[in-house]
Order: sequence, then structure tokens, then C-alpha cells
Amino acid sequence: MSCYGIIGAMEEEVSILKDKMKLNNIVKIASMEFCEGELSNKQVVIVRSGIGKVNAAICTQILIDKFHVTEILNTGVAGSLRNEINIGDIVISSDAMQHDVDARGFGYPLGEIPRMETSVFPAELALVHIAKEVCQIVNPEIQTFVGRVVSGDQFISDPDRKKVIIDNFQAYCTEMEGAAIAQTAYLNQIPYLVIRAISDKADDSAHMDYGEFERQAIKHTVNLVTTLLEKI
Ligand code: ADE
Repeated sequence: MSCYGIIGAMEEEVSILKDKMKLNNIVKIASMEFCEGELSNKQVVIVRSGIGKVNAAICTQILIDKFHVTEILNTGVAGSLRNEINIGDIVISSDAMQHDVDARGFGYPLGEIPRMETSVFPAELALVHIAKEVCQIVNPEIQTFVGRVVSGDQFISDPDRKKVIIDNFQAYCTEMEGAAIAQTAYLNQIPYLVIRAISDKADDSAHMDYGEFERQAIKHTVNLVTTLLEKI
């Protein structure tokens, strides 16, 4: 039977989903609370991983080893890397890469992990297609994009760093966990999908309304995740 691991880095990103779920059990491992239960009539384990790639990878491996999840969804917010992708819009991952892996000193391109057969981790195609369809129905007021998500242990707010990422990766948005989850899922041959709502432009543009943008963005991901679970 399918069981979906749902990871958000921050409490704000998972609290509404946790409120909506039928909770059966909470297990604490590695300082993370794994909430087992049902959401949209599907078996789920919802967990706040904490911020960054290390937390995200540990969390994903625990979901696989201890909770035997069959699929992994990562939901949260991200910074836009394209002018046409606005705050509130949704990016569904086609694949994920780490923008902060840097072995250029050994001749590897930025983002390439030495001695791995790939550094591009494709999302589960069936999930991508359904998520795109569902998103356009449940969030008609925003744009839905399918494209590359890049991750690094950096909150991107420096326009120069943003430009480096744009110039080296054909990416749609940047955040701090998705590619670590994707790599862990890849190593374990578990399907995954990243769903991110845009909270900022990954530059130094005004952040006065960041909190409000984040709340709106999270509403869109919650709409999508709950309905996506109904359809799969
Ligand atoms: N999450 C949301 N916005 C982000 C940004 N600009 N950089 C990294 N992670 C983010």
C-alpha cells in the first residue's frame, strides 16, 4: 500500500497540513517529529525536517528506513529565478540539482557531484503531470510552472549570486532542501516530487511583505498537496 512522506523545512510549511490530517501517532527521531496518519484518505507521514540539505537528507532517509514510505513530497517556499515567475506562483520540479556543489577545481562543472553517475535527479513523471493538472484547477489565480529546482545551503538574496545560479543552471527556483531530498530518493529508488510556491525573487528587492507573501504561497501549496493526494 502507498504511503506518502511529506516534508516541509519549516513549521509554517507543514502546520496546515498537520491540522488537516487524521493523526494516529507521533514518533520522534533525530529531533524530528514524524506525524503518522491520513490526509485526503491516503496514508501519510508529515514531518518538519528543519532547514537545509543535511536536515532534509536525514529526514528523507528516516522516512524511507523507518516509515517505509513509497513516495516523497517536498512542499514549501522558494525564491524565483525567472522574471516571469511571480510571488505566489507554483513551481513543480521536473528535476533537482545542488547549486552549491563546487568541484570546479577538479574540472567539474558547478553543481556536478564528483564520482556520481548523475547530479540531476529527475522527479517522478506521473506525479509531475498530475500535480500540474491539479494545480491549475485548485489555484486558478496563479501560474503553474514545471521546471528545475536548485538547492543549496544558502538563502539567496544577493543579485550577484542569483546571476551565477541563473547562468549555470536552467533553474526555475531556488531553495534549501529539494535537491537533497531528491538525491536521497534517487539513491533509494523512491519516487519524489518537489512543490514550491514563490515567496521572493531571490534578490535584494523589498522584503517588507515577506511574511505575508510566505503565508499566501503556503496556502497554494496546501491546496495543491491535499488535492493531489486525492487524485493519486
Ligand atoms: N526559500 C525561499 N526563498 C528562498 C531564497 N531566496 N533562497 C533560498 N531559499 C529560499
